[in-house]
Amino acid sequence: MIKQAIIPLAGLGTRLLPLTSIFAKELLPINGKPGLEYIIQECIEAGIKEIIFIISKKKVMIKNYFYNDRFYKSLIKKKKDPRIINEYKKILKYRKMIKFVYQNKPKGTGDAVLKAKKLIKDKYFLMLLPDDLIVKKNCSKSMINSHKKYKASVMASMTVNKKTVSRWGIYKLNKKLNKIDYLINGVIEKPTIKEAPSNKAVIGRYILPKSIFSMLKNTKPGNSGEIHITDAIQALIQNNEKFIAHNFLGKYLDCGTMNGYINSSKEIAKL
Ligand code: G1P
Repeated sequence: MIKQAIIPLAGLGTRLLPLTSIFAKELLPINGKPGLEYIIQECIEAGIKEIIFIISKKKVMIKNYFYNDRFYKSLIKKKKDPRIINEYKKILKYRKMIKFVYQNKPKGTGDAVLKAKKLIKDKYFLMLLPDDLIVKKNCSKSMINSHKKYKASVMASMTVNKKTVSRWGIYKLNKKLNKIDYLINGVIEKPTIKEAPSNKAVIGRYILPKSIFSMLKNTKPGNSGEIHITDAIQALIQNNEKFIAHNFLGKYLDCGTMNGYINSSKEIAKL
């Protein structure tokens, strides 16, 4: 069973400046709700019991969002507004399942995951990148089903325009397992068009084995100076770990860029 999820939240959000100059991008509203709440709800619906938030000192606003009791309590005392009471209850419910871990230097997703090492209990865990919203169908839930069926690690996958491969992690596909799952031979972080083994891209949902931690310890930073989770995954595949690319059926919304962020509210409003 997959019971724990990791959410890296220490990123600076430079692609969303000026909105993120003093504000955490994951708390920005998307159609009236913080983006992070969509991710938490996806986890809960997928049966996750504990979520590990990786924040930084600069992103402590995210912790405060879940610990603003004094404010809520005094407001509720004065106003008895059922809407506020419900919102507060929701926050208390989320808080019970969240643990906070710090990554004070933005050294990449791989480094962020490594910070959660001590808290991971089971053989596999889920990781979600909060810039990537997937709506209409719960991607984590269907990935967990594929994981159970094939006893393998799983990553979300989407077909992208060949011209954009250098924006993503790109899969080298092996064999088709069913309509939406492919076994993969490898994955390469942000390749050039020439290097790219396909146009199937990694989207931010991963079911990873605990053995990723020992790989991450030995993973060197890439060109950007960041430790990429993709490189540790590639090392695991070379070590014969089974990995599946899962072509999810939901709709992908890229909330990490300004255009994508603006568009995400419009798309969610249509649902
Ligand atoms: C990260 C991953 C990349 C993946 C992408 C999906 O990149 O490193 O492999 O394709 O998320 O959104 P980033 O968006 O942090 O550049």
